[in-house]
Amino acid sequence: MIFFILTRFHDKKISLPAYFLFFRAAERRKRKRHFLVLAILRNFAILNWIKFMDNEKIILTGDRPTGQLHIGHYVGSLRRRVELQNSGKYSKIYIFAADTQALTDNMENPEKIRRNLIEVALDWLSAGLDPTKCTLFVQSQIPELCELSMYYMNLVTVSRLQRNPTVKTEIKMRDFEASIPVGFFCYPISQAADITAFRATTVPAGEDQKPMLEQAVEIVRRFNNVYGETLVEPSILLPENEASMRLPGTDGKAKMSKSLGNCIYLADSPDEVNKKIRSMYTDPDHLKVSDPGKVEGNTVFTYLDAFCKPEHFGRYLPEYANLDELKAHYRRGGLGDVKVKKFLAAVMQETLEPIRARRKEYEKDIPAVYEILRKGSEAAREVAAQTLHDVREAMKINYFDDAELIRSQQALYDQKA
Ligand code: TRP
Repeated sequence: MIFFILTRFHDKKISLPAYFLFFRAAERRKRKRHFLVLAILRNFAILNWIKFMDNEKIILTGDRPTGQLHIGHYVGSLRRRVELQNSGKYSKIYIFAADTQALTDNMENPEKIRRNLIEVALDWLSAGLDPTKCTLFVQSQIPELCELSMYYMNLVTVSRLQRNPTVKTEIKMRDFEASIPVGFFCYPISQAADITAFRATTVPAGEDQKPMLEQAVEIVRRFNNVYGETLVEPSILLPENEASMRLPGTDGKAKMSKSLGNCIYLADSPDEVNKKIRSMYTDPDHLKVSDPGKVEGNTVFTYLDAFCKPEHFGRYLPEYANLDELKAHYRRGGLGDVKVKKFLAAVMQETLEPIRARRKEYEKDIPAVYEILRKGSEAAREVAAQTLHDVREAMKINYFDDAELIRSQQALYDQKA
């Protein structure tokens, strides 16, 4: 019994009640052994309580600045980030442009990254990320991340990196099979550095980032195991619903991508958005208005799933109470694509309008946007430097900060003399 409790006292849910149970038992029986257990339990209960109070929630996530962000990014991540930012549940939120990572497969295209940094920053700000509530920064401006990556490289094997499913797919996609750049191959390690340098507990990201997080967790465990408890274990925060997981392109293809030309960008003008919606892929068998139509795999309905709110019906399509009614009518037949598309266009314009308006404002003062990134990077660097300080200490490479080390080394030679 005692043994059982002792093996469980690391658990904060158990240690406190266990302590009080023992306290009562010990009082009643006044046995010495009980008081010993009591003392141990009390210490653990206090320790756990401190840990519990100290349970800061910190968010970190990043985007590669390789292009403008589109509405797929918006439903998949940006919208969620703004909600998280305004939830008040997180003590710190770090959002960064992963330009160093973007260079791992764009080494010959530095101009592209340089140009898109400001695009991504404008997209963040116009989507509603608030630089007074989150730290917006640029990966390459934090040299501590390179240092940390270097140390982590010793904790990961080549074969483990080769097994990373995201890396595997990306190597195929980029035709890197014959010659993989080392920097690209190691980017999961540098991503672990990004996350851990800021002691992030929570990484909002898509399904595709799961293997990256698993790799980061392994690195954290290995580091803490070898050098002592130093780093915080992160966990992924996946999108909430299916429609947010991956928005198909306007042509119905599985992915929105610049090269396929099937994106609606956050920066698109109202006319561009309307034009793109008018030519969207629907149900290819829904030829006449009277034909029954399919909602599944019908991109217009997928977009409505992601963007439409009940109040939109009152404003733009009062004949229907909600999306289910609209879908039912489409399935039955008698509802034309044009009408559904017009409704979607109204919903999209309403969603994008405030984003466009904010973008217009920020576009008037580009130096101020760079200044936001510069200030954010400066603040982020201080945090990363603190982590690096702890890491160097744990790894025992903090020679010059350790007066005791220097003294004891002298003592060694004094003894010999
Ligand atoms: N790999 C991510 C992407 O391709 C970007 C990224 C870099 C990231 N470092 C990160 C995301 C750390 C989350 C946490 O979009």
